[in-house]
Amino acid sequence: MKLGILISGRGSNMTAIIDAVQGGRIPGAEVAVVVSDKAEAPGLERARERGVRTVVVERSGRTREEHDREIAEVLDRYGVELVCLAGYMRLLSPWFVSRFPDRIINIHPSLLPEFRGLDAQRQALEAGVTVAGCTVHYVDEHLDNGDIIAQRQVEVRDDDTVDTLSARILEQEHELYVEAIQTIVRKHNSVWSG
Ligand code: GRF
Repeated sequence: MKLGILISGRGSNMTAIIDAVQGGRIPGAEVAVVVSDKAEAPGLERARERGVRTVVVERSGRTREEHDREIAEVLDRYGVELVCLAGYMRLLSPWFVSRFPDRIINIHPSLLPEFRGLDAQRQALEAGVTVAGCTVHYVDEHLDNGDIIAQRQVEVRDDDTVDTLSARILEQEHELYVEAIQTIVRKHNSVWSG
């Protein structure tokens, strides 16, 4: 199954996915391309260092759908079958979502449906929850919405700051995202191999 990873920044989830694929931990998967909407995204270098093809598609004054159409062309060019958002900071257009039905997934640093949007870890601390976490979910045109695929809990400590909590959630994100992709790839490949 060919994966396309969309990023806007650091790309640590992207790196976890690439390392898992290259280390043979997601049998039957290949990272076909990494697409960033930001030319300066540090994740681009991390992908290139690992020998993965990268393409930058900046929005540059176009509508959301025009931008998404160009991204879809890139994904099609490399035969992408599963689109993995990894810190991709743009909402996708309804056009893009219907172009890849049930084939777009995202990771979010909260136990959805709680704390959608930016600064989810800060939202969790401010709400005073004792358990935070992360979620992998299918993507629709609404922010951090769509069916939940997998979740993992992370205990909130009394002395947690946004940084310490975010770091512990991020460790779990890397594992959870890889596990979720393993499951999807296994199902996909078993259907295709009959
Ligand atoms: C992660 O916390 C992810 O859950 C959220 O954005 C952050 C991206 O981090 N969607 P990275 O670019 O994967 O390091």
